[in-house]
Amino acid sequence: MSIPTPATLTSLEAIAAAVHDCTACPLAAGRLTAVPGDGNPHSPVLFVGEGPGQKEDETGHPFIGAAGKFLDEMLSAIGQTRSDVFVTNVVKCRPPENRDPEPDEIHTCTDLFLWKQIEFIAPKLIVTLGRHSMGLFFPPEYKISQIHGQPKRVRGRVVLPLYHPAAALYNGGMRQTLIYDFKKIPLVLKKVQLTP
Ligand code: URA
Repeated sequence: MSIPTPATLTSLEAIAAAVHDCTACPLAAGRLTAVPGDGNPHSPVLFVGEGPGQKEDETGHPFIGAAGKFLDEMLSAIGQTRSDVFVTNVVKCRPPENRDPEPDEIHTCTDLFLWKQIEFIAPKLIVTLGRHSMGLFFPPEYKISQIHGQPKRVRGRVVLPLYHPAAALYNGGMRQTLIYDFKKIPLVLKKVQLTP
């Protein structure tokens, strides 16, 4: 168990190994398995969720519970599968009782891992799932209810903020909105890929 040194994180595999070993924040103490993220490391689209839930904590893979099934359905609707894209989270360890991650946990984890993952994957499009992920790229006064589905260039990358599949799963209106926004992904990606 250790706090990784950024200089040792020289590949996605090294990051994943360091995530499994990490004790840099209090979330490490409560996890069964850390969840580095997985999928296609060459994907032009990177999905960033919030943090592992119970099923993810048990298995070490992101989005495999009910929210994950919904994510798979939406991916299928745009002709993609999980192995086409890369999926990770803001924090890599399950917060106790699925509470929101604390700002210092988010800061520690993203500084160590997420920004490096983004550097290695170099996605054309980052799709944020939920407000914690969105909060990494947009100012705090931005509300997800106002900016969902609107792609924006941030820190040199195009970011599409979407509702979190778990929040939208059982809320009819939000579910339809998320499905509608999700279907914009191919078009946004096409536009990004055409823009130098
Ligand atoms: N919710 C998330 O944000 N991430 C997961 O991996 C699972 C559920």
